[in-house]
Amino acid sequence: MARIMPEDTATIEARALFIQTFGCQMNVRDSEQMAELLRTQGYELVDDEREADLIILNTCSIRAKAEQKAASYLGRIGEMKRRKRSIVIGMAGCLAQQWGRRALDRLPYLDFVCGTHNIDMIPEMVQDARRHKTRRAETAFRETVASIGVAALPAKGSVTAFVTIMQGCDNYCTYCIVPYVRGREESRESGEILQEIRIMADKGVREVTLLGQNVNSYGMKLNRRLDFPGLLDRVSEIEGIERIRFISSHPKDLSDRLIDAFRVLPKLCDHIHLPVQAGSDRILKLMGRGYGTSEYIEKVAKLREARPGIAITTDFIVGFPGEADEDFQKTIDLMEKIRFDNSFSFKYSPRPGIAAEFMEQGVPEEVKRERLTAVQALQRLHSCHSNRLMVGRQVEVLVEGPSKRGEEDVMGRTGTNKIVNIAAPSIDAGSTVEVTIARAYLHSLRGEVRKKEKS
Ligand code: SAH
Ligand code: SF4
Ligand code: F3S
Repeated sequence: MARIMPEDTATIEARALFIQTFGCQMNVRDSEQMAELLRTQGYELVDDEREADLIILNTCSIRAKAEQKAASYLGRIGEMKRRKRSIVIGMAGCLAQQWGRRALDRLPYLDFVCGTHNIDMIPEMVQDARRHKTRRAETAFRETVASIGVAALPAKGSVTAFVTIMQGCDNYCTYCIVPYVRGREESRESGEILQEIRIMADKGVREVTLLGQNVNSYGMKLNRRLDFPGLLDRVSEIEGIERIRFISSHPKDLSDRLIDAFRVLPKLCDHIHLPVQAGSDRILKLMGRGYGTSEYIEKVAKLREARPGIAITTDFIVGFPGEADEDFQKTIDLMEKIRFDNSFSFKYSPRPGIAAEFMEQGVPEEVKRERLTAVQALQRLHSCHSNRLMVGRQVEVLVEGPSKRGEEDVMGRTGTNKIVNIAAPSIDAGSTVEVTIARAYLHSLRGEVRKKEKS
């Protein structure tokens, strides 16, 4: 990509940037890259939007609720601009991609709209807004997302980091807007990915999460020599990186080679997020997911055999068009069979222009609500049970920093991605400690330090 050169450094005045991020980790990573690009124009991130000269809202459009959240935030910063006319306001991310230029017509206070492939153009759009009062919308899809390689470091002192390994999605699940707002699937060059992770490791990062909508298909499209298990192998050779995670994994492309990686790569964490969406084969077919429940159950069994104790988490959609009571019951049955460690569950939300929008037999809102409540209640039971099983066990925890619980505690995670609070304020972030789990709660565990392992 074209390097964005700072303006004459002598003339750069310090400016304050605030980025509000909604949506998934992909957006979180994109925001880090926006901040890095804007640093070259003298912008420094601030925590308080009221101090900002430039506000960027990085949006999500996965469900109607995400859209409403963005709209209400935009309304609020529109108000702010009425009081402080000099602020530049930009909208980026998946909803910006979906709305395109129309966002400028709808929202007179908006200075620019940046699509998911155009993050590299933000510094230029900001300058145009400032100097020429030009309002721009750049939402064209490009072959490569130029900003994907911007080596932004996570926040100072972070021991965990996200690394984007793929852009877009080609799966077109019938309920999903992502392929339309993120464009075609494209894998990043492995050399670039490895280099980025090496830099992170040098700066103190100990755990990386590799990001893609379907990481299992990494490298497949271009017949690259390196597939996803091969990439994991290379990442695990990087000195300093102690833990590797990845999201998301599509069950249809979960290969035996990837399952084997859990056998042979100790740095790979004991956790996989494997979104199943529903327990009825009929519904899975309508969703265009490309697998059935028996295949899913078999893959989970293989994973548990390859890595005993592996945590399995998932996503559910309830109330997909045509989902009858019998179909929904199969989701509950599948939950009982697998006993997920955790899950995210959502009511089906029709999105503009996607295949499922045209399917008849929408499920009434109150039925959706009841089903969601049932899934979440059962999940709470299973999560509590899975956490209680940890009590008395010794586990390794990578300490990430001070706990939200209070100054006396530090917080870290187990390999199974469970949050552990430890009463030991002197442990540095980045240390791996062995703790005994003393108590279990719904969303976290309390650990007691046994001995300091490595630092
Ligand atoms: N690429 C990931 C999912 C990204 S979207 C994957 O395939 O696993 C995250 C989750 O949002 C999905 O797993 C799905 O459960 C949910 N989701 C997507 N579209 C939705 C919609 N229209 N309504 C409700 N939930 C939706
Ligand atoms: Fe959406 Fe399916 Fe792609 Fe995931 S795999 S992003 S659910 S289309
Ligand atoms: Fe949302 Fe876009 Fe992620 S729609 S879930 S921010 S890829």
